[in-house]
Amino acid sequence: MKQQMTPYVCHIFVCTNVRENNPENPGCGSKGGGELKDLLKKAVNERGWKGKVRVSTSSCMGLCGTGPNVVLYPQGIHFSAVTENDVPLIMDALHKLLPENRKIWFPAKTFGWGWGPPCSWQGWVVLLIYIALLASASWLMPLNESPALYTACVTGLTIVLIIICIWKGGRPRWRWGK
Ligand code: FES
Repeated sequence: MKQQMTPYVCHIFVCTNVRENNPENPGCGSKGGGELKDLLKKAVNERGWKGKVRVSTSSCMGLCGTGPNVVLYPQGIHFSAVTENDVPLIMDALHKLLPENRKIWFPAKTFGWGWGPPCSWQGWVVLLIYIALLASASWLMPLNESPALYTACVTGLTIVLIIICIWKGGRPRWRWGK
């Protein structure tokens, strides 16, 4: 077995399950799941997202009463009672998920792991606040007088900065110039 990261930003799973012996709740496949999958696939291809977004059929998601059901993974976004009129709305949601369309404050590094300098004013504000707080910590609790307090303060501030970078930054992973 080989474990690796998925090459897709998003998998769209469309339930096409048919519950043959349940006329009261016949399943997503009987309510247009298959046609929906074809429409979503067409819409993804028209937008040139092939290779980034994969449309796949799925079996029952356990929410048959609210079908047809569509789920975006790994984002975990669930659409229920989907009709063909909802395809543009699902495409809008996908558009926001693609990294090139996400408004990020810190771009992922081109070489190595982590983030580069901010690419938005919000990122610069965060970075300047971080630097100002570090400077204040050095002034209020000098390292030679209160090393434990200073270390805790710097660690705490850096953790907060990393959390903001994860939240508003490019997806971090090892990169070698690609
Ligand atoms: S048949 Fe679609 S969720 Fe169960």
